[in-house]
Amino acid sequence: MTVPEHVFPKGFVWGSATAAIQIEGAAELGGKGPSNWDVFCRKHPEKIFDGGSPELACDHYHRFKEDVRLMKETGHTGYRMSIAWTRIIPDGQGDVNSEGVAFYRALFDELRAHGIEPNVTLYHWDLPQTLAGLGGWENKQVIDHFVRYARVCFDLFGDQVKLWSTLNEPGWTTLQSYVTGLHPPNVSNHKSAVQVAYNYILAHARVVKEFRRWQHEALSSRKETQIGIVLNMSTIYPADPLSSSDQSAATIADGVLNRWFIDPVLKGCLPSDVWALYKRCSLLPEHTDAELAEIGFQVSASQSSKIDFIGVNYYYPHFASADAPESAYHLNTSGNKNEDCIFAIKDLFRFVKNPHGRFTDWGWEIFPEGLYDLLMRAEHYSPGIPVYITENGIGIQESLDSDGTVRDERRIDFVREHLKVAHRAIQDGVNLKGYYMWALMDNFSWVNGFKKRYGFLFVDRKTLDRHIKASGHWYKRVSDQNGF
Ligand code: BG6
Repeated sequence: MTVPEHVFPKGFVWGSATAAIQIEGAAELGGKGPSNWDVFCRKHPEKIFDGGSPELACDHYHRFKEDVRLMKETGHTGYRMSIAWTRIIPDGQGDVNSEGVAFYRALFDELRAHGIEPNVTLYHWDLPQTLAGLGGWENKQVIDHFVRYARVCFDLFGDQVKLWSTLNEPGWTTLQSYVTGLHPPNVSNHKSAVQVAYNYILAHARVVKEFRRWQHEALSSRKETQIGIVLNMSTIYPADPLSSSDQSAATIADGVLNRWFIDPVLKGCLPSDVWALYKRCSLLPEHTDAELAEIGFQVSASQSSKIDFIGVNYYYPHFASADAPESAYHLNTSGNKNEDCIFAIKDLFRFVKNPHGRFTDWGWEIFPEGLYDLLMRAEHYSPGIPVYITENGIGIQESLDSDGTVRDERRIDFVREHLKVAHRAIQDGVNLKGYYMWALMDNFSWVNGFKKRYGFLFVDRKTLDRHIKASGHWYKRVSDQNGF
């Protein structure tokens, strides 16, 4: 065995990530209720590439034991996943479904028996349809139901799960659901978007406080259990670094997409410049002073909404230009290289393509330095805070070779390049605790359907058989050596 050049700290977590609705399938089995995504995909197959649906997904619900074994074979010491709210409380607000509870208890047991630590996200975009019918995240009642669901999970799984996250990427999901309108409920309305973004932050703060209450009820056995949030903090640079208007555009874009979420969770307050912008544009969310106080940190440990760690997702950077005469949105969901992603908000900012960039087939730039900058930023915000890279990965069009392997050298290069900058960030002081590649297996990639493959495991769409890709074998060596 060669001595690795990049050695990671002892106990570094080597993992991968998934989300319930993207892999579980069994959409109508085990007492599960319908979620917004189940209903959306059923009603609007034309809005999903090739009409893909999460109905069967990867059938992880029935194959989880095999999947955990394959995690072990690919060197996993950690696994980031989410719980489907609709499996635990099928209508989001009523009775707890014992079959759903049994499924996750069995999965957590299996993981722990294989020495794999679960890192569990409570909400990864699959909202109970009943609550979507009440107006979804625009309605503050949904926050109360979310806090109750979170408490139910802490009570039911708190002995098995040591790492919890409240929400996955509240910024990205707000954007896709309420600005571009690509995700359910397919709304394009800035006022709704701001209300939802505010409600997410309030929901996060309330769940963290509920967690603290739960923790303090039996502190001796629960003090090692931690809670955080997962944010997509894509780094945003001015398109022309020498242009002051592009610099301002980048500051605004960063404020709306990133700081709105980072500031409250790491500093305990919403960013004043974004608040002022929303006020000027008559977009301020409905709020009360008491709620704003709740978003802030309290002194008492049992009341605090301060998080224990931050999860960061990183795929690609943005370059912002001030030249934004019109709003325009387009996401490449086909994997056709000639199709560019477009995102512009009239008079505020427009993201432009880096003319020197390297891109995936879906038009996402490969730019590892963006991860370095993001990690350093988390450290500057909150020195010493434990950080996990909770998602990072590359979507590729892949097929199985005749010998049953997938030679995904591009994925190995992608992960290696990002791990190199992560290693440098650790040398430069970031308290980085682990890396979860997106994803464990090829899965339902939202509006991209199944063509965009992300996994260490290739999933045959006809048989649903799993095959470890070259990257999975490579990751095992990295994990065994704790570096590369
Ligand atoms: C993240 C999500 O935004 O990006 C994942 O948390 C998602 O759920 C991943 O799958 C990759 O995005 P996409 O749209 O290519 O699947």
